[in-house]
Amino acid sequence: MERTFGIIKPNAFADGNSGKIISRIYEEGFKIVGLKKLYLSKVEAEGFYYVHKDRPFFDELTEFMSSGPCVVMVLEAENAIQKWRDLMGATNPAEAAEGTLRKEFGASLGENATHGSDAPETAAFEIGYFFSGLELL
Ligand code: CMP
Repeated sequence: MERTFGIIKPNAFADGNSGKIISRIYEEGFKIVGLKKLYLSKVEAEGFYYVHKDRPFFDELTEFMSSGPCVVMVLEAENAIQKWRDLMGATNPAEAAEGTLRKEFGASLGENATHGSDAPETAAFEIGYFFSGLELL
């Protein structure tokens, strides 16, 4: 079993799509071993996306991620990292396949509804950024 980290981003939360996204997560066979709703500060969003700090979209991204509540999750499944990326679809909703979360709920490259870890090391950092071991059940 593998664990990955996911976010239901502020646009998807504000649009009332958190429940639909969580239903899809269960339907696809994940266990949700950690889940909480947060309203990130700009500094907290910057810390999370630190790896992108030199990218031109860093300020826009962290402004958006701190613009409203989001849901952070730890998902468990066989091959969870790739499985969650497949369910989300391409980063840009305009390029995402039919049936993926970003196609259905994403509005733009920045407001793309969900986030997911891209590798085991990233998942370990991202899970640890938001959850203690005691919170993962
Ligand atoms: P995410 O999976 O959260 O990882 C980093 C995010 O940066 C990505 O999804 C996009 O939402 C965002 N992103 C990537 N490229 C751009 C861009 N060119 N302009 C704005 N946001 C971007």
